[in-house]
Amino acid sequence: MQFDIAVLPGDGVGPEVTAEATKVLETVGQKYGHSFHFHYGLVGGAAIDKYGLALTTETLGMCRKCDAVLLGAVGGPKWDDPRAKVRPEDGLLALRKKLGLFANLRPVKVFPQLINSTTLKPEVVRGVDLIVVRELTGGLYFGKPKKNWQTAKGRRAVDTMAYSEMEIKRILKVGFELARRRHKKLTSVDKANVLETSRLWRQIATEMSHDYPDIALEHMLVDACAMRLVQRPVDFDVLVTENTFGDILTDEASMLAGSMGMLPSASLSEIPQGETSKVFGMYEPIHGSAPKRAGQNLANPIATILSASMMLRYSFDLVTEAEAVEKAVTTVLEESYRTYDIMEEGKIQVGTREMGELITKRIGK
Ligand code: IPM
Ligand code: MG
Repeated sequence: MQFDIAVLPGDGVGPEVTAEATKVLETVGQKYGHSFHFHYGLVGGAAIDKYGLALTTETLGMCRKCDAVLLGAVGGPKWDDPRAKVRPEDGLLALRKKLGLFANLRPVKVFPQLINSTTLKPEVVRGVDLIVVRELTGGLYFGKPKKNWQTAKGRRAVDTMAYSEMEIKRILKVGFELARRRHKKLTSVDKANVLETSRLWRQIATEMSHDYPDIALEHMLVDACAMRLVQRPVDFDVLVTENTFGDILTDEASMLAGSMGMLPSASLSEIPQGETSKVFGMYEPIHGSAPKRAGQNLANPIATILSASMMLRYSFDLVTEAEAVEKAVTTVLEESYRTYDIMEEGKIQVGTREMGELITKRIGK
């Protein structure tokens, strides 16, 4: 089979980690008889420097023509001026919105090999295997009005949290469907004691639960959820929540896995049906551009490599191949190789390229 992949390395460590993920995909192609064609484009600060825009219509058009998008990371101190007209993040947000990628899946799986590299107690994180379904194209990120202006009494700014029934239903459906294929438990996270959008969200979740009698639905307030995630994370199976809450909770949840450098994500434009699917999606690590680590062959490429594996699964319907990548990652960790972020005494520290190479070599073994 032949697949076209748009590769947007972005800024900071983005180019380094995407380079390893494309190598992994190439190897998967060779071993399993597929051809992956990579089409490169600029996004974020790199695009601002070249075109004055964080995402050009050409790059967006190129992504639309491909079967999936692989993204590194965007942002950095160079473009951080709060008065700047364009920000690298605008490119990422435009991609999400314009490509209709409303469903962001962020699995958090604790590798037993890394049980001691977290800041939490091993007995708390052992066996954690949860997935956060984050709504990605609504809420505070996109609600209007959104502005910053001067009033007679000083400066003022506003962001708007808005959700329609359609937006809530389709993301909850992703949560229910995923829960059905996993351990049948869905935690819907909101702030219904304060927010109207959350009260609508909770109402709709309860209504939809009648169509999913096999799923145990629980509602949880976001503040309580933040606490539970570090107190008893093994209790969670599927969590579903709105954009901002999902952003915050997944950074927190990444610490269960030991490092942000371990967590992949998939942003999908449709509700995946079954174990796999062929839906259009964008795949990226949840970590940022880590400008301090850029260009030093330090960054952990595993999050991006696991994102590529999610691409194989959700956009290309290639489960065996996806599993082969996951297995290769496990093997390399088992063999004690670590990047700096997950390094422990007695392990072997390697760089971005070496980690990518080690994983590549173990694919299909
Ligand atoms: C994420 C990131 C982005 C977000 C930033 C870079 C705009 O933190 O993907 O979690 O807030 O969604
Ligand atoms: Mg984030």
